Amino acid sequence: MSSTIALIFIGVAVLFIIGIKFLSSPKTARYGNLVAAFGMLVALLALHKTTGDYVWSQGWNLNYTLIAIGTVIGLIIGAIGAYSVKMTAMPQMVAMFNGLGGGAAALVASLEFLRRAHGLEDVAASITVPMLFATLIGSLSFSGSIIAYLKLEGKFEKPHTFPGQNFLNGLILLVILGLGGWLTFNATGGNAVTAFIVMFSLALFFGIAMVMPIGGADMPVVISLLNSFTGLAVAADGFAINNLAMVVAGTLVGSSGTLLTLLMCKAMNRPVTNVLFGAFGSGGGGSQAGADDLAGKSVKPIQADEAALLLAYAQRVVVVPGYGMAVAQAQHQVRELSDELGKRGVEVQFAIHPVAGRMPGHMNVLLAEANVPYDQLYEMEAINPSMDRVDVCLVIGANDVVNPAAREEKSSPIYGMPIIEADHAKTVIVMKRSMAKGFAGIENHLFYKDNTRMLFGDAKASLNALIAAVKAG
Ligand code: TAP
Repeated sequence: MSSTIALIFIGVAVLFIIGIKFLSSPKTARYGNLVAAFGMLVALLALHKTTGDYVWSQGWNLNYTLIAIGTVIGLIIGAIGAYSVKMTAMPQMVAMFNGLGGGAAALVASLEFLRRAHGLEDVAASITVPMLFATLIGSLSFSGSIIAYLKLEGKFEKPHTFPGQNFLNGLILLVILGLGGWLTFNATGGNAVTAFIVMFSLALFFGIAMVMPIGGADMPVVISLLNSFTGLAVAADGFAINNLAMVVAGTLVGSSGTLLTLLMCKAMNRPVTNVLFGAFGSGGGGSQAGADDLAGKSVKPIQADEAALLLAYAQRVVVVPGYGMAVAQAQHQVRELSDELGKRGVEVQFAIHPVAGRMPGHMNVLLAEANVPYDQLYEMEAINPSMDRVDVCLVIGANDVVNPAAREEKSSPIYGMPIIEADHAKTVIVMKRSMAKGFAGIENHLFYKDNTRMLFGDAKASLNALIAAVKAG
């Protein structure tokens, strides 16, 4: 690789890093995307100019027309998909894109391996290992992401488990690793091709077997994990075909995906192993948690008119949005209510829990769609210390992320999970349709506290009623 190209690739790496840095705030996220996309374009052009340098191009008739046609088709499908996808279907889209990335990484490595197996190129373990790694990780990321996509679409959402499942999965993994080990030193000839195809097929099957036992609601964590796998597969491809840009981009995706997975698990106070092997959402375990202490206690309902009075005469209101706001698609009504209260001199702030909703940044995305100003959004750590100076905390379709059991009940499955301290506010108004539990399947003591009132109904309808009452008041 020429030193000019090496320098260009270092520049590309810097653009990727700046892009990721910008993505860390909603204010700069758009630029972040543009900067990273520009970096990708530079990498593609540099690759095009230097293809002759690469091992994989030697002896192959590279068909640039075909590559250009593929790029244009990909661009069109990607653009149409990105413009037409509903905000609530973003996790599915990410799952699909991630799966395709993993599949592409596996195909690049497979073709390279098969070419060498047919004696077209020298085989050294230093090249074979990354190829096998990329094939294994890329293909399991592909099939796993397809299952994650289907689960998010509501197909076989529940965890599918059977006795001995983890043992069987472990056995399959052992066979895959055994075949990989053998292929490392026997990478040419017909037997190598057969073993490789078996390993490839088993890796695809393993992706399915790994994701099927995980509940639909845990899919964002799984997708993030599979995303880091795809990144590692791409980085391994980069080693195999001597492409520095792929090594850098893959490593960045791999590390950021891993960090995001760990951060999500930390915010839910669940180890990654619990997400992968815990079959969370299968109906067992925590459903009774906290129920005993509530025997004989009742909740205090409130009507929209009375709630509107409390809000209109408050000095400071904190809104805590949750999954129910996304279900009701009530973000525009939330913005309207906030504006109405603002006109009356009420200070309105939004408290964002890192795992509110069902995907990273779910609440930020919805509130940004409704043009809620960024400076009204506060992270959990920033708002919690002042929650006892809040007049009204308006909880809109949030449940687990405001459950004091996380702080108070050692036996609770969510004990230790950081929460937004809604119960510290002078008055709490909780908007939800019924007494149904949230994602964790446990009772919420907040609903029964003396300072809590329940405003029952669909969040959008209740917010419309609140807006009308505040305007009329
Ligand atoms: P949840 O605890 O899931 O509670 C959502 C509440 O919204 C439900 O209790 C439901 O009660 C209510 N709701 C549903 N539809 C509604 C509607 N149309 N109008 C009004 N209310 C409605 O939500 P949360 O507090 O946002 O917590 C998120 C949970 O998901 C956490 O346990 C978190 O660990 C988990 N999780 C999050 C992520 C990410 S990355 N965000 C990933 C995986 C898992 P009703 O049915 O009574 O209305």
